[in-house]
Amino acid sequence: MSRPDASLLRHRDALEVHWPSGQASHLHFLWLRDNCSCEECRVIQTSEKRFMISDVPVDIAPLAMSLDGDRLVLVWPDGHETVYTGTDIEALHAVGPGSWTPWDSKFFPARYPFRAFLEADSVASDAITEFLDKGAIILQQAPTQPGTLESLSPRLGPIREVLFARIHDVQVDPGGYNVAHTPNALPPHNDFASYSWPPSVQALHMLVNEAAGGESIIVDGWNVLSTLRECHPGHFRALCEQPVPFREFDDDNETFAVAPLVRCDADGTIVSLRFSNQLMQVLDPGAPGVGEFYRAYHALCGLLAANDVKARFRLGGGDILILAAHRVLHGREAFEAVGRRHLQDAYFELDNIRNHLVVLKRKGVYGSG
Ligand SMILES: [Fe+2]
Ligand SMILES: [Zn+2]
Repeated sequence: MSRPDASLLRHRDALEVHWPSGQASHLHFLWLRDNCSCEECRVIQTSEKRFMISDVPVDIAPLAMSLDGDRLVLVWPDGHETVYTGTDIEALHAVGPGSWTPWDSKFFPARYPFRAFLEADSVASDAITEFLDKGAIILQQAPTQPGTLESLSPRLGPIREVLFARIHDVQVDPGGYNVAHTPNALPPHNDFASYSWPPSVQALHMLVNEAAGGESIIVDGWNVLSTLRECHPGHFRALCEQPVPFREFDDDNETFAVAPLVRCDADGTIVSLRFSNQLMQVLDPGAPGVGEFYRAYHALCGLLAANDVKARFRLGGGDILILAAHRVLHGREAFEAVGRRHLQDAYFELDNIRNHLVVLKRKGVYGSG
C-alpha cells in the first residue's frame, strides 16, 4: 500500500490525522482541547495545566482545522487556537510501561560499591537501571555502623516509615514481635503485607554476620506469577480476586490490611505480589471463593519454593541488599544463634528511585551501559 498523503479526516467526535511521516493518529476533540499547550492553558512557570475541561461543552468540536506540514492548527468555537506537531504526538505513543526482565536460574544481584553509588552519578544511573529491570542489587563495602541506611536517601529518596521502628533491627531477640527475631528459617515474603500500601522498596543492611547458616534467599515473585498465569489462569484470577487479611502487631503497634495477593494494572500487567505466610490471618471460611483461593495459594506456594526461581547467597558485613519489594520476596535459612548476626532494614518507595533516574538523565548522566 502506498503511503497516504498528509491529510485530516473529521469524524463525529474525533480527528483522524495522517502525518507527513506516514503515521496516523486518532485524536478525540476533548483530548485535543484539554492538551492545548498555549500560554493561556498552562501555568508557564511550572508547566502545569491550567485549563479545566468542564469549562467547554462536552460536545466541543473545532470550527476550523488545518495541517501544514507537521503542524496541526485548530480553532475552537470561542476563537481559541491550539497547535500540535506530529512529532510531539508520536512521542506520546512511544511512552510505554516500564519493562522488567525475569531472572534465569543463575541470577545473582549485580553489585556496586556503596561509596561510588552515592558519589558517582554514572554508577547510580547504572545501578538504578539494573534495579528497575531485575528488582535486586547489592551495594558492597558500606560502613557497618547502625543507621548507615539513612545515608542512602540522596539516591533512594526519604525513608518510608512504618510502625515499630524507622530503621528495624533484625537480630535474635526473645522479646521480638516477628519470626525474623528468632534463629528460625524465614520463608520468602515481603514485609508489611499488613499495610494497604506495603513499602515498595526494602534495603537490608548486614552489619555483622558471624553466625553459621542464615543464607539469604530471594525470589522473583513476578516471574513466578507469570508462570502461574500461563499454566493456571484460573488460579491466577483467584489470587487477584480473593481478599486476604494480614496482621503484624506487638503490645504498642497494630497493623492490619485486607487485600488480594496479586494486583495488576488496567492492562493486566502484574504490579504487585503481597506474600507473607507468617502475617497471613485466617480467612472467613464461609467467604465465597475460599476453596478456589486455597487451590491457587497451594500452587503459588509450590512455585515459590522451587529452586529454579530463587537466588541464594550469603550477606556479609557491609553488604546492603536492595529489593523492589512488590516484586521480589526475601527470606533466609535458619542459623545457629552462636556468632553475632545483626541486620538492619529500612524501606523506601520505588517512585522516588525511578524518578531519581529521570533527574540523572536530565542532567545528561547515562551511566556506562
Ligand atoms: Fe522481612
Ligand atoms: Zn490553549
